[in-house]
Amino acid sequence: MKFITSALLLLLPFAAVAAPAPDSAESRSVAPTGEEIFDKRAEELCSIINVSTYVNCRSGPGTGYSVVTTFKEGEKWYYSCYEPGTCTEGNCTWDWNEDWGCYVNGYYTSANCSKANLGLCY
Ligand SMILES: *[C@@H]1O[C@H](CO)[C@@H](O)[C@H](O)[C@H]1NC(C)=O
Ligand SMILES: *[C@@H]1O[C@H](CO)[C@@H](O)[C@H](O)[C@H]1NC(C)=O
Ligand SMILES: *[C@@H]1O[C@H](CO)[C@@H](O)[C@H](O)[C@H]1NC(C)=O
Repeated sequence: MKFITSALLLLLPFAAVAAPAPDSAESRSVAPTGEEIFDKRAEELCSIINVSTYVNCRSGPGTGYSVVTTFKEGEKWYYSCYEPGTCTEGNCTWDWNEDWGCYVNGYYTSANCSKANLGLCY
């Protein structure tokens, strides 16, 4: 009995290491929540291009919406979808910046933020 107890104690650390990660995809047995589905949308890292000073990131897909923040040339953020809106230099798509929760016109985002990569927001 004494031997078994000490053997168990010796094995415990290994058992802890061998245990599967609690939230690994393989161990999932329930459907993902809405929030998790949202997180699985496209996520593209895009640079700000074609601006000499800064570009506005707006609360909606058009120049009539309020400015949430501004970005300088070269700033990299994550974008997850696009919406149609007002046009800038012939580009009428607005990319949703998920880091800041605002839209930048597609004319100012790099190639990773193509319509095909992002997909429509709705
Ligand atoms: C495009 O996306 C890739 C993968 O996330 C990233 O490594 C790269 O820096 C991005 N390119 C630009 C110009 O942001
Ligand atoms: C926009 O930026 C890209 C990449 O830096 C460049 O190739 C392109 O010529 C720029 N377009 C304009 C109109 O400045
Ligand atoms: C406008 O921007 C989007 C997203 O950055 C891009 O996919 C598209 O090719 C651009 N369209 C034009 C006409 O420049």
